Amino acid sequence: MLACYELESPTKLTNEYLLEGPVVSKSLENLKINQHLTNFRPAEEQKKALIEISKMPKGMIYIARSGCEIVGYVTFHHPEEYFRWSKHPKVLELGGIEISPEWRKKGIAEALLKEAFRNPLIEEFIVVTLEFYWHWDLKGNGLEIFEYQKVLEKLFGVVSLKRRATDDPDITEHPANVLMVRYGNNVSTKEILLFEDMLFEGRTEFH
Ligand SMILES: CC(C)(COP(=O)(O)OP(=O)(O)OC[C@H]1O[C@@H](n2cnc3c(N)ncnc32)[C@H](O)[C@@H]1OP(=O)(O)O)[C@@H](O)C(=O)NCCC(=O)NCCS
Repeated sequence: MLACYELESPTKLTNEYLLEGPVVSKSLENLKINQHLTNFRPAEEQKKALIEISKMPKGMIYIARSGCEIVGYVTFHHPEEYFRWSKHPKVLELGGIEISPEWRKKGIAEALLKEAFRNPLIEEFIVVTLEFYWHWDLKGNGLEIFEYQKVLEKLFGVVSLKRRATDDPDITEHPANVLMVRYGNNVSTKEILLFEDMLFEGRTEFH
């Protein structure tokens, strides 16, 4: 990645953005973060989180940036220990995607996902994303909960993530929550079957 000063030009990059990744921690440290990237945590905390993830063994950060400022990102990492999929050797979690509100609806999320999924490493993994409605910016996007779910299903569908049924209690806790999955081309049948077995562990309690 170019040093940030090399990208500063007299013409401001107000409407232009670059996509890049996986971005190493040193490069992230040199960038500013857009102060409206607060969907998951305050912006500066989010920048720290991106740096931490980029240092993890399976961690990858892709960003959209305008000049020296991160205006959007998508994260990948080993699933959190408390998720059942953390026990599967080939599962990679798409942890979060966020685009700053003033940069939304310009196709950046879609472009960022396409860029990240061009990485051949993705084909070695079963990528999962656990979409919990309490993470969604319903107000900022002016959408009802199930409209938002549809937007996300379509967005992640662009990189072939597909909705899967599961009895994972975090997903079944609310009907809007969804699990989406993509099998990499180089994932073996054995690993896929192991994953399929993990979708239902029979722990759901029906009332
Ligand atoms: C969800 C989010 C990442 C979308 O980012 P974005 O850059 O605006 O998305 P894009 O411009 O690439 O749009 C992708 C598709 O979703 C649709 N879309 C995006 N926002 C929409 C909205 N508010 N209303 C209706 N459709 C919408 C777009 O029209 C586009 O569909 P199209 O290809 O048919 O035109 C962004 O709203 C965001 O950061 N939200 C907060 C964080 C979040 O909810 N993350 C997802 C859970 S991890």
